Amino acid sequence: MHVAIVYESLFGNTRQIAEAISEGIRSSHPEAEVDCLGVGQAASDRLRTVDLLIVGGPTHMYGMTWSLSRRMGLGSERMNAGPGHEPDPGAEGPGVRTWLRNLPKTDRHTHAAAFDTRTTSPTSGGAAHGIARRLRGHGYDVVAKPHGFFIEGAADGPLRAGELDRARSWAATLD
Ligand SMILES: Cc1cc2nc3c(=O)[nH]c(=O)nc-3n(C[C@H](O)[C@H](O)[C@H](O)COP(=O)(O)O)c2cc1C
Repeated sequence: MHVAIVYESLFGNTRQIAEAISEGIRSSHPEAEVDCLGVGQAASDRLRTVDLLIVGGPTHMYGMTWSLSRRMGLGSERMNAGPGHEPDPGAEGPGVRTWLRNLPKTDRHTHAAAFDTRTTSPTSGGAAHGIARRLRGHGYDVVAKPHGFFIEGAADGPLRAGELDRARSWAATLD
């Protein structure tokens, strides 16, 4: 089985969740080939043989990021610049919305799943539903309910305690 986890991350929280999902897949499917890729590295030819595609990104303004929200996020990170406040490597690249727009359609009924990171606010919204909808629109079979993972604070985290374990456990349910 070939599994790809594709993520967008401005401050590193979604990347950490993506890495924990990779670990969860590796322990539940030791035979699997697992790629964990930022959207800027996830060229479609690397996905041609994928059996399970897991896509995640941060929640901005109740949904997926977009160019303005990304600029706002990166601008505030630069204002707070200092140790622990550098943008994640790849943060300046494309967002998951653009990546999904360019994702080729599949007719292989490839399995897929979507996740996001979000605040603990009861009105946080979430990016994962929009990601799942677009994956379906590209012919993917979305095999799990869109999943949100929580950060503390308003923007740059850190992740709430226990979220990496929750990501590993969620990943182990996917195939
Ligand atoms: C411009 C902007 C808008 C945001 N809007 C929301 C939101 O509507 N709901 C929410 O839960 N979190 C919101 N957040 C917080 C993000 O969810 C948080 O920055 C993200 O989960 C961190 O992931 P990352 O470190 O991978 O970028 C927003 C953050 C930014 C920068």
